[in-house]
Amino acid sequence: MKRRVLMVTAFALALSAFSALAGGGNAQKVQYCSWCHGVSGQGFVPAPRLAGQQAEYIENQLQGFRQHTRPSSFMWGAVKSLDVLDTRDVATYFSAIAPEAADDGDKVAASAGKTIYRRGIPALNIVACAACHGPNAQGIGKIPRLGGLSAFYLKTRLDQWAHGNLAAAPAPMPQIARQLSPSDIDALASYLSFVK
Ligand code: HEC
Ligand code: HEC
Repeated sequence: MKRRVLMVTAFALALSAFSALAGGGNAQKVQYCSWCHGVSGQGFVPAPRLAGQQAEYIENQLQGFRQHTRPSSFMWGAVKSLDVLDTRDVATYFSAIAPEAADDGDKVAASAGKTIYRRGIPALNIVACAACHGPNAQGIGKIPRLGGLSAFYLKTRLDQWAHGNLAAAPAPMPQIARQLSPSDIDALASYLSFVK
């Protein structure tokens, strides 16, 4: 019920932003995405921010939703509106928008998250996240930008991998997340939500 209210609100917001988005050839498809992903793709619980995300990563995820290798009660239907060419255009469109940080994490937990992000947890053989996601969590190519994604979304993703819910997910995230404790996950999600 609560989710439905959120969606209706997102829909109203997206309509009011339509004129701002209506420039490109894919305006209508982008508008449809914005119903859930928020105005200018800045994210809207539970749909993550797409603005500033790596284009190649966006394309890969859309393919995963299409092939049902990534579960989602929302995206399996949403990808049906995209053909192969549109997918690339839409990915490029969102990746070019300047991302805004969600800032929704716990400030106290964030400092422990910063340490794990930068140094890993050597005692448990957990690699520094920065080694792949970049020093400023900006991502590259197939590796997503994490900086400024909502703590809510980051925590959901890491929890899903940690609990082995995503059997078909590609390495290395399931292996990494399985070694993180719930408080490590809270700390990392909090820290990353503030990274600009
Ligand atoms: C009905 C709501 C809804 C619509 C419409 C929607 N999305 Fe999503 N999208 C979600 C949710 C929710 C998630 C997070 C996965 C989950 O929990 O199901 C998501 C995840 C994604 C992801 C993965 C992001 C990441 O960081 O891994 C991409 C990429 C994406 N959506 C792109 C799109 C595009 C492009 C469109 C328009 C064609 C679109 N979405 C339309 C709700 C929606
Ligand atoms: C060896 C490289 C590597 C390391 C180290 C790594 N990641 Fe990742 N991460 C990836 C790749 C590749 C993906 C994309 C997976 C996919 O396409 O499904 C990813 C995806 C993610 C996502 C999904 C983002 C989204 O938008 O849905 C999160 C969250 C994440 N990683 C967090 C972390 C954290 C936290 C750490 C450190 C504890 C970490 N990663 C360490 C390679 C890495």
